[in-house]
Formats: sequence, structure tokens, C-alpha cells
Amino acid sequence: MPDEDRDMPAARDNVTPRPRAAMIICQALYYLVGRYLPPSYACSLLGRLSKQFRALVCRQIFRSAGRNVNVEHGAYFGSGRLIEIGDNSGIGVDCHVPADIRIGRDVMMGPEVLVIGRNQNHRFDDLDLPMRLQGYADSPPVVIEDDVWLGARAIVLPGIHIGRGSIIGAGAIVTRDVPPFAICAGNPARIIRFRNAPCEEERQLDTLPPVPACAAPVNSLEE
Ligand SMILES: CC(C)(COP(=O)(O)OP(=O)(O)OC[C@H]1O[C@@H](n2cnc3c(N)ncnc32)[C@H](O)[C@@H]1OP(=O)(O)O)[C@@H](O)C(=O)NCCC(=O)NCCS
Repeated sequence: MPDEDRDMPAARDNVTPRPRAAMIICQALYYLVGRYLPPSYACSLLGRLSKQFRALVCRQIFRSAGRNVNVEHGAYFGSGRLIEIGDNSGIGVDCHVPADIRIGRDVMMGPEVLVIGRNQNHRFDDLDLPMRLQGYADSPPVVIEDDVWLGARAIVLPGIHIGRGSIIGAGAIVTRDVPPFAICAGNPARIIRFRNAPCEEERQLDTLPPVPACAAPVNSLEE
């Protein structure tokens, strides 16, 4: 996939420069207050207010945020400075995502999803040096395209690109890029099927031999 395609869309149009002080205050408000407020689905008014508070402060922190973004209770995103997130997308309850993730529109995240960032893969080539001193392997930011559903406790490794319309099953460990509309599950995650492929019954119907056009009816009177 060409690099420019990997640089995803999210909500670039909404990028506005923010004063640094405002961002630091909002980071503090999020990590000291917002993160501990109830989830959006908690008893209606409190949940709604908590969601709005988190959305308000995160809008000042993230590089860009679309409309109706839902950052849930307990979500962790480091400094969050380079995050791009599109309309109607969320970071789920107790999820951890890196500070430079790109999330498209209409993305759903189950609880405790873990996306590992570009600078969290320790190098380990040198056998004479402790791994903790070898620095990190670089990789591009994780990209989650539009309309993706990440199931509970899915883990996404650094540099992964998740194609639009795909589903990552609960507990899956995603070690390779995911093509559009794939449904993946397991460890390591494998494609179990495609949302836009015909289902098994439809496939079987497709492979049945065609009825000959001029076949005589079984009970033909002409026999
Ligand atoms: C991935 C998922 C959407 C697939 O749903 P589905 O298309 O109905 O899949 P099926 O139940 O028909 O299962 C198909 C196969 O995949 C396997 N499978 C399904 N989900 C799996 C998962 N999460 N991990 C491992 N294997 C899985 C099934 O065991 C089955 O295998 P088999 O054919 O060998 O029996 C669903 O199983 C899932 O994980 N949903 C996430 C739910 C969640 O986390 N919600 C949180 C709130 S947002």
C-alpha cells in the first residue's frame, strides 16, 4: 500500500493550532478528572455529562477530532498530541492507544483494547547489550480506517493498518495489516471471512451446475 494511502484521513479538515498552555491544562483535566468520571452509558445524565466533559478536553488535546467523539472512562492515550479521530468514533473503556494513532470515522472500540505504539517495540539485535539499553524499533503510526469494530481486549501491534469496514474479534492479536471488510479473530489474528463475500449458502448456490436452458420437464407428456 502506498505511503500516502496509509496516511489516513480522519478529520484533518478540523486541525486547528492550539495554545500549548491550553493543551497542558486539558491534559491535566483529563488525567486528573475526566478519566475517572463514569462511562458514557452510566445512569443517563451523569454518563452524558461525563462523555461531554471528556470530549471537550480531548478536543483541545488531540491533533484533530471530529463530531460526536466518545473517549470513554479509563482510556489512556499518552500525551494524545498527534491523535486524529473522525466523526462518531470512540476510544473504549480502559483502552490504551498511542499518542499518534489515526482513527477514521464511525470506529467502535470494545473495552480494554490495547494498541501498541511506534516506540514501544524494544530493539533486541545486540546480544551483548541489555535490551533495555537498545532503544526502540521505529514503525509508522497505527491507522484504523473508517467503520472498523475492534472487539474487547483486542491487541494491535505497532505499525498496523486496519482497513475500512473490518472487524477485529474479541481477544485477537493483530500482527499483520488487515484488508478492508475482513473479519479477523484469534492469536495471531487470521481472516475468518470477508463481510463483502457471499456467505457459505450463497457460495454453494453459485457453484451448482446451471440448469440446461432447454431441458425437458421430468413429466413431459412428449416422452
Ligand atoms: C469476530 C466476531 C464478530 C465474529 O462473529 P461471527 O461472524 O458471528 O463469527 P462466528 O460465531 O460465526 O464464528 C466463526 C468462527 O470464528 C471463531 N471465532 C469467532 N470469534 C472469535 C474470536 N473472537 N476469537 C477466536 N475465534 C473466534 C469461531 O469459533 C468460529 O470458528 P469455527 O468456524 O472453527 O467454529 C465475534 O465473534 C466477536 O469476537 N465479536 C466481538 C464482541 C465484542 O468484543 N464486543 C465488545 C463490545 S463492542
